[in-house]
Amino acid sequence: MEQGEDEPPGKKSKISPQTDVRWISESGTIDCFILLGPTAAQVFSQYAQLTGYQALPPLFSLGYHQCRWNYEDEADVKAVDAGFDLHGIPYDVIWLDIEHTNGKRYFTWDSELFPNPGELQHHLQKKNRKLVVISDPHIKIDPDWPLYCEVKEGGHFVKNREGAVYEGTCWPGESCYLDFSSSKTRSWYARQFSLSKYEGSTESLFVWNDMNEPSVFNGPEQTMPKDAVHHGGWEHRELHNLYGFYQHMATFEGLLTRSGGTERPFILSRSFFAGSQRLGAIWTGDNVATWEYLKISIPMLLSLSLTGIQFCGADVGGFVQDPDPELLVRWYQAGALQPFFRGHSAKMTKRREPWLFGDDVTSAIRSAVQDRYRLLPYWYTLFHQAHTSALPPIRPLWVEFPNDTSMFAVENQYMIGGALLVCPVTDPEVTEVKVLLPGSDVLWYDTNTAAVHKGARTLDLPVTLNTVPVFQRGGTVVPRRAGCGSSTADLQQHPFTLTVALDSKGNADGLLYLDDGHSFSYRDQMQFCLRRFTMRAGAPKTAVTFEFDAKRGVLTLTGLDLEIHKDWEIVI
Ligand code: GLC
Repeated sequence: MEQGEDEPPGKKSKISPQTDVRWISESGTIDCFILLGPTAAQVFSQYAQLTGYQALPPLFSLGYHQCRWNYEDEADVKAVDAGFDLHGIPYDVIWLDIEHTNGKRYFTWDSELFPNPGELQHHLQKKNRKLVVISDPHIKIDPDWPLYCEVKEGGHFVKNREGAVYEGTCWPGESCYLDFSSSKTRSWYARQFSLSKYEGSTESLFVWNDMNEPSVFNGPEQTMPKDAVHHGGWEHRELHNLYGFYQHMATFEGLLTRSGGTERPFILSRSFFAGSQRLGAIWTGDNVATWEYLKISIPMLLSLSLTGIQFCGADVGGFVQDPDPELLVRWYQAGALQPFFRGHSAKMTKRREPWLFGDDVTSAIRSAVQDRYRLLPYWYTLFHQAHTSALPPIRPLWVEFPNDTSMFAVENQYMIGGALLVCPVTDPEVTEVKVLLPGSDVLWYDTNTAAVHKGARTLDLPVTLNTVPVFQRGGTVVPRRAGCGSSTADLQQHPFTLTVALDSKGNADGLLYLDDGHSFSYRDQMQFCLRRFTMRAGAPKTAVTFEFDAKRGVLTLTGLDLEIHKDWEIVI
């Protein structure tokens, strides 16, 4: 029955939820798996057993990324890089979009704008920063370009129904498309990322796979015709949704092989499929610099997180159009609380590096980014959990409070791990936000004011432009670094801070995961440190800071050597 049907006006009946789902398969059968849970955590884990766990990202990739279509030339990149230092804003990665290439020929450089890419990467690497470059799946048709000829001769292009190489248009103009469904083509593509083949690349270069739905400007629905033919005679309609996944896989293979299998790759992809979480990060594609787009970034990323794609983000600031300074600040504050954190802007927009809008804006953005960096020990621990037990780092409230049905529809607030409830401001000119604090038996600590609130209420929270509403749940311990420096590499120099929020009985628990942040030693040599902190009743109700001797390196530790309050118990 529809709500209100056959009922006296003004009386609302309880609607019994009804969900109709229809699936249609254009070709082949649909495999359907029912995951029995019964808890959300068990469903995540069951799904990961089918499709794989989130890759553990290199630590740098959880820092802030600065992107634009395009940073014009080497001097521009260096000036933006220096701008971050000048304004005391940490960041780890600067990105180059399609214009860095010679005429949109991926794996090449524009020799006038980027004559010394190796030197540019060394310049960044000296500050422990990385470069990401774009590599799209289309290849410019150019018989004078050896790479094009090699792909053609190697039979690595998708064909049309007549058996000729399929041609479509994308950024370079007339192009052909690599057939990533073939393992031979994937191996060929992976080899292009070796340091000897990819001229001007170094170990500190990482990759961005874009337009890999695939995007074909003159194709039906702006993609490849369904009767295009892939390796083994498969029509495109059979594997359309896998195309980007396979490119991501080949790029992952390339970066992995480049390091002899020792370094964790970082690759961002726009297209993805079940299992893409094993390969790197995903972003939500071209968004718009409006409050609505900021708002929907939250449910979009929560949905992705639930479906296993846990290293996800949305373009901070909005890709097209120009954000006003207030929107930009609010977007940085929200983005800093999302797994993948990258500012990006389209070619036709005005420049918007964080220091271009006056001191108040710069300072609000600086503070949001610095808070992100200080919180990275917690984020990294959450990614370790995602990697090993499939728990998503960001979670809708119902995941943590499954018995409270009023949480089911909340999509402007969410949890970072089990400990932090966040409610980013996504409306203009607000002086107050309403924050739903769940759980009648839960205490919530406002991380800005240290005020404690009982759960099961809606809090009217006064906010200024600098306020980022974040609440720590009683009963948890959140690890942070006491400072942040200029990139994730500097975090080592700062002591850890454990913020203890007691529950109503005076107890708290938390976890800290550490490793070298970039290699597979955690997996192959078990070189990691996992510590559980348990505080039992009787301890002081203030946050306590512990010193950690960074010089010894985390991998040699047998314990954290903390000055422990006598009432504290550390459970390992
Ligand atoms: C696509 C991408 C965008 C990128 C642009 C140019 O629109 O989604 O992020 O900047 O292509 O490469």
